[in-house]
Amino acid sequence: VPESHAMNLADTIRAIPDYPKPGITFRDITTLLGDARAFRRAVDELVQPFAGLKIAKIAGIEARGFILGGAVAHQLSAGFIPVRKKGKLPHETVSITYSLEYGTDEIEVHKDAVKRGERVLLVDDLIATGGTAEGAVNLLSGLGAEVVAACFIVDLPDLGGADKIRRLGVPVRTLVSFA
Ligand code: PRP
Ligand code: ADE
Repeated sequence: VPESHAMNLADTIRAIPDYPKPGITFRDITTLLGDARAFRRAVDELVQPFAGLKIAKIAGIEARGFILGGAVAHQLSAGFIPVRKKGKLPHETVSITYSLEYGTDEIEVHKDAVKRGERVLLVDDLIATGGTAEGAVNLLSGLGAEVVAACFIVDLPDLGGADKIRRLGVPVRTLVSFA
């Protein structure tokens, strides 16, 4: 059995208690990213169902979705679309306000980032309430993209985000759950 089979991805993700505020356990993927075998394994597992599905572009969500999305795009020979926090993209954009656990934020993409009917895979490190991913799906769909699926390394199922995205009709793939 290759050694990699013994690796548990969950064990490579660090838990930070009470960050950024009391009661929140922050799931820190920098430890996964810093472990060469874990990083490769996470990317390989994320893309596994999507090879051969003619994905034209990966949409990665700032900031941690950029790190994974770039690697996933390379692996699938797809292009990359940065979904950024408001005010960072230089050309014409479309933006959407989305809900966070407390309050709202705004993300945007370039208007010409996708062509009508283009098959897009959404990538981020983690899904919690699903507010960020829902905003990204709506932005991309609004530009005429076909959002084929959304994938994340970490799911926090108690917050219901993955189910929220599935209810939009977008299949969700996650690798590790922390309940
Ligand atoms: C984190 C994470 C996701 C989002 C998930 O990003 O990387 O993008 O939260 O939360 P949700 O499912 O409840 O929307 P964050 O907003 O902390 O931004 P950052 O990556 O720029 O730090
Ligand atoms: N984004 C939202 N909730 C998070 C958590 N618990 N850990 C890391 N990133 C998050």
